[in-house]
Amino acid sequence: MTRRSHIPLHEAFATARAAGGRAPSVLGSRPWIIGGDGDRITLGADPDKRLGVADPQARELVLSCGAALYGIRVALRALGVRPEVRTLPDPDRPALLAEITSAGEAEPGSTDRRLYAAIERRRTHRGLFERPLSDAAVLRGLGDAAALEGAALRPVTDPDRVRSLSGLVAAAEHLHRVERAGTEEQDRWVRAQGDPAPEGVHAEDFPAPGAGAPPFPGRDYGHGRVAGLREARGTEVGTVALLATASDDRASHLAAGQALHRLLLAAADAGYAAAFHTQPLEEPLLRAFITERFCAAEHPQMLLRLGRPAPEGPADREAEEGVAGIA
Ligand SMILES: Cc1cc2nc3c(=O)[nH]c(=O)nc-3n(C[C@H](O)[C@H](O)[C@H](O)COP(=O)(O)O)c2cc1C
Repeated sequence: MTRRSHIPLHEAFATARAAGGRAPSVLGSRPWIIGGDGDRITLGADPDKRLGVADPQARELVLSCGAALYGIRVALRALGVRPEVRTLPDPDRPALLAEITSAGEAEPGSTDRRLYAAIERRRTHRGLFERPLSDAAVLRGLGDAAALEGAALRPVTDPDRVRSLSGLVAAAEHLHRVERAGTEEQDRWVRAQGDPAPEGVHAEDFPAPGAGAPPFPGRDYGHGRVAGLREARGTEVGTVALLATASDDRASHLAAGQALHRLLLAAADAGYAAAFHTQPLEEPLLRAFITERFCAAEHPQMLLRLGRPAPEGPADREAEEGVAGIA
C-alpha cells in the first residue's frame, strides 16, 4: 500500500525506530531495546543498563524508555501512520514495555510535524539560561503537552520554594559526590570529548561552571577535574518546574517519559531548552520530602529548569578548543 506521505509502511517504521533512539535518557545510557520488523515495533527495557545505585527501582530507566516511545509515536504520526500502542502488553514479560503497530493512515497534523522536526534540535542544556521561560502561552502549551500524556508540569514560582529545591539539589549532589565516588556507575557513561559513541555524556556536554543564584549544581561527570567545557553564557537559573504523576507505578513512569519528551520537543520548537536535576529524586528520603512538600497528592518524576539558551558563540568554541583532549 502506498501511503499519503509516499513512504512505504516498513520505511516509516524504520524511521520511527531511529527517532525513538534519539530520546533523552538518564546518563545518556539509552536503556531501551527497540526491536520488531516490518510494520511492528517492540520497545523493551535493557536490564544491563539499569543503574543499580542511582536507580534501583528502574524508575529513571522506564522513564527514559517512555521518552523513546514518544519519539516513535510522533515520528509515525508525522509520517502519516496512526500508531496503535499497547503498553505493558504481557504481565509475564515485565521488560517488554510497549508494542507499536499501525492502526491505519492519518494525515499528519502541523503539531506532529513540528514536534517530529524538533527531535533533531532538542538537546539537554546544562548551564544557565539567557532568560527564563516567562512566556505564559508557551508554558501553558508545555503543561498541555504533559497533560496529554498523563502527567502534570508544575512550575515552582515562589522564590523561597525555588531556593528550597536548589538546596535539595545541592545536598543530593554533595551526597553523591561523597558516597558514589567509588561505584563507577556514572563513570561507565562518561565519554571523552569528541568520542564518537552515541551513548553516554560527552565531556563537551559537562555542566558549565557557575551554578546560578540560587545554585542548581549539575552532576559531577568529570570528578571536579573536567567541567564547563562550554562557556557559561547565561545568567538565569530559568523557570523551575516539577513533572509529576498521579501514581508511581511502571505505567506512570512510562507515561512520565512520554510527557517529558513531548514537552521537551514543544519547548525546542519554541526556542527553549531544559536542564535536568534528578539528583534529589534518586534519594528516597529526599524524593519523599519533595512529594510531601511540593507535589500534594502527586509523585515527582523530574525536576527541570526551563529557559532560552544563549546562542553559542566564539567564547564557547575557545573554551572547547582550550580543553581539547583533557578528558
Ligand atoms: C530520567 C532522566 C534523568 C536525567 N537526569 C539528568 C541529570 O540529573 N542531570 C543532567 O545533566 N542530565 C540529566 N538527564 C539528561 C541526560 O543526561 C541526557 O538526556 C543524555 O545525556 C542525552 O543527551 P541529550 O538529551 O542532549 O540527547 C536526564 C535524562 C533523563 C531521561
